[in-house]
Amino acid sequence: MFDTLKKSVAISAINYVPKNSIIGIGSGSTINFFIKELSTISSYIRGVVPSSSMSEDLLKQFNIPIVDLNTLTSLDIYIDSADQINHSLEMIKGGGGALTREKIIASVSKKFLCIVDKSKYVKKFDNFPIPVEVIPISLNSVSREVVKLGGIPKYRKNFITDNGNYVIDMYDLCTNNSIYLEKYINNIPGVVSVGLFCVRKADLVLVSYSNRIDKISL
Ligand code: A5P
Repeated sequence: MFDTLKKSVAISAINYVPKNSIIGIGSGSTINFFIKELSTISSYIRGVVPSSSMSEDLLKQFNIPIVDLNTLTSLDIYIDSADQINHSLEMIKGGGGALTREKIIASVSKKFLCIVDKSKYVKKFDNFPIPVEVIPISLNSVSREVVKLGGIPKYRKNFITDNGNYVIDMYDLCTNNSIYLEKYINNIPGVVSVGLFCVRKADLVLVSYSNRIDKISL
């Protein structure tokens, strides 16, 4: 059922792609549906900045031009899903491990459109594990800091990010002060980025239900 909802929200996001634009896109199963849909209007856009090698490969399969972020100063829109998005439009992302590039592309985009199925739109973050990408040598030192924060760190086994790093999934962290937590974790030596997207949150979210798509902005 969630695949149907992911597909329907991905299709509705096509209306937000400006003509002649270069857009940023995220990673994951919802975005895979979006890329397939994007291929039907690919002649209307100039290209896409992808946030993972997986998205890049799929874009190439559909002959959609890839653009290097270093050739641009900004993007009109970034379209991505999330693992959870709360009613303040803050997100937990990185379930697929592509959080760092997602965060970079989101940071230079004028608008962040988040597309999710109804299961991911929550009033408050619901104890979903928060991923953190770390430089390999810092796996244990960062894990100890997570424990000091009251969390339970779990090393994501057999997983290397596109940037050659490791991922720790942090369970049981209190997210009441989410912006502080995001900044605090980002400052731990060895952390590349944390999957809390609260400083740069979404501007707009589309949420799919079986009979409708809700559009929510603050
Ligand atoms: C990728 O690292 C993530 O941030 C994804 O955007 C997020 O996990 C949503 O993925 P799905 O669309 O596969 O649920």
